Amino acid sequence: MPQGNEKNLIGSLVCDFTSEKSLYRQAYGGGRTQHLPRAIGMKKGHMPQIVDATAGLGRDSFLLASLGAHVLMIERSGVVYKLLKQGLIKASKFDGNTEQIINRMNLIHGDSKNILQSLSPEIIYIDPMHPIRKKSALVKKEMRILRDIVGADSDCGDLIRVALKRATKRVVLKWPLSAEPITGIVSPSHQIIGKTTRYDVFMINQLPMT
Ligand SMILES: C[S@@+](CC[C@H](N)C(=O)[O-])C[C@H]1O[C@@H](n2cnc3c(N)ncnc32)[C@H](O)[C@@H]1O
Repeated sequence: MPQGNEKNLIGSLVCDFTSEKSLYRQAYGGGRTQHLPRAIGMKKGHMPQIVDATAGLGRDSFLLASLGAHVLMIERSGVVYKLLKQGLIKASKFDGNTEQIINRMNLIHGDSKNILQSLSPEIIYIDPMHPIRKKSALVKKEMRILRDIVGADSDCGDLIRVALKRATKRVVLKWPLSAEPITGIVSPSHQIIGKTTRYDVFMINQLPMT
């Protein structure tokens, strides 16, 4: 049972796929031309199987599922898992279209480093908690609360190494543009650069043999 401060923090986190913002992003966000779907390699007529190894509040998974992908989400924080589960249930009752999107999303509670050992999906997507920025006001309040609950994800290098062994086509890492690269990881095959974030894409068949 969460207590005291944690309970307050949780109360200010929302997982709502039917908020105005979420519905707007779905309708006018740019579809497959957005950076994330491009990094994932989503193409008309081919919907890859994706594992979102750091599900969080499920926003990125929802975007990918709204474009037709089937996404298996894994979240290790019990608190965040519960919030996400509730958000999925609520959204599945919103309307027929949202229900279809939610039906393409599955959620598992656990650590992806372990769960991935028995999976071999085409694509693995990783969006760990980003390192604390000096200009912390620039970090969205929601992300600060999430970090207070789940911590720093300092094992993300290990998660990427596992993902690179298990994915059959590509691993995609979302990372702040200005942050130091994660140490001990091979260079990405290519990058998709946004204003504050970049997507590092590791094409499995182009990686150096280890
Ligand atoms: C930055 S958030 C992800 C946000 C998410 N992309 C979204 O759109 O809402 C990172 C999340 O990944 C989870 N996480 C980090 N490492 C994990 C692991 N090894 N296995 C499962 N979940 C993990 C954290 O608990 C946290 O909830």
